[in-house]
Amino acid sequence: MKKRIAVLPGDGIGKEVTRGAVDVLKAIGERFGHQFYFSYGKIGGSAVDSFGTPLPDETVELCRESDAVLLGAVGGPKYDQLPVHLRPERGLLKIRKELGLYANLRPTLYYSSLAESSPLRKEIIEDVDMVMVRELTGGLYFGKPSERSTQNGQDVVVDTLFYQREEMTRVIKLAFDLARQRKGKVTSVDKANVLESSRMWREVAEEVSKAYPDVTLEHVLVDNAAMQLIKNPRKFDVVVTENMFGDILSDEASVLTGSLGMLPSASLSEKGPYLYEPIHGSAPDIEGQNVANPLASILSAAMMLRLSFGLEEEAKAVENAVNEVLNAGYRTKDISSFGKKQVSTTEMIEEVKATILDHETILNIMGAYA
Ligand SMILES: NC(=O)c1ccc[n+]([C@@H]2O[C@H](COP(=O)([O-])OP(=O)(O)OC[C@H]3O[C@@H](n4cnc5c(N)ncnc54)[C@H](O)[C@@H]3O)[C@@H](O)[C@H]2O)c1
Repeated sequence: MKKRIAVLPGDGIGKEVTRGAVDVLKAIGERFGHQFYFSYGKIGGSAVDSFGTPLPDETVELCRESDAVLLGAVGGPKYDQLPVHLRPERGLLKIRKELGLYANLRPTLYYSSLAESSPLRKEIIEDVDMVMVRELTGGLYFGKPSERSTQNGQDVVVDTLFYQREEMTRVIKLAFDLARQRKGKVTSVDKANVLESSRMWREVAEEVSKAYPDVTLEHVLVDNAAMQLIKNPRKFDVVVTENMFGDILSDEASVLTGSLGMLPSASLSEKGPYLYEPIHGSAPDIEGQNVANPLASILSAAMMLRLSFGLEEEAKAVENAVNEVLNAGYRTKDISSFGKKQVSTTEMIEEVKATILDHETILNIMGAYA
């Protein structure tokens, strides 16, 4: 298989971890006989430095011409004082809009070898396996007006929560499709006791569910969902919610099983290309120290293999390699614990690559004796 991948490393540790995902994709190409072509573009602060904008047209063009997009992270203190339209995060919001990335998928998976890294007790997080599906291009973050003014001598402010019914329908449908391939349960999160937008969300969820009699639908209010994620995270399979609720809940879900450095994500559009990125930011506090955990980026590459290219076996090979490396006791600083072997970013990447390629060697040896 031949595929073009746009790589946007961005800022800070984005560059360090993206290198890991690219190396691992190359190793997969080598082991399974695929050709992946990588083209690099700028986004975020590094794009502001080079082009005076957080998302140059060249980058959007590059992404549109590619089969999938791999992103690192954007942001950093150097850019914090810039006017809003030049902030690195603007680049991220804009690429989502430009590519029509309406759904963000964040899996949260329990790794038995990392049980000690979770802030929760093992018996609570054991066997957690959920996917948060967040609507990504509507709601409060994009509604207009969003502005401050003065009325009768008072400072006032307004943000607008706007959704079209169709925007709700497509993301909820996606959640049901996903649940069908998993444990068959959708939890729809809203605030229907207060917000009109949530009442419409709930109505749409009910409507969509009629076409999926094999999938169970439950409605949970967002405040209750925040509590249940801590008390009983095992109860969730696929969770679907609007943009701002999803932003908050997916970060909460992300720390259940340990470090931010372990969590991948995929953003899906109607026609592609899809975009893959670790959920963490540019981590300026550890930038350039070769200590960042590259596994979230590497696991994002596994999601790319599965969702964009339909390469399930190859995706599994990456996920299995990550598991094997963790089981062998290798840990970056963020997930290190007593008795484990602490390794740098580059060493962790090498271990995962070697584990993927070792299988090739083993198969060759077995072939020679067949
Ligand atoms: N998608 C994105 O690009 C994205 C997401 C969140 C934040 N940001 C931006 O990143 C910058 C820093 O934000 P922040 O500090 O709030 O969040 P962050 O995710 O960058 O870091 C939070 C904490 O987690 C640690 N951490 C994050 N990723 C890690 C990894 N792979 N390995 C080891 N430790 C890791 C960091 O060292 C830090 O202590 C800001 O400019 C913010 O706007 C970007």
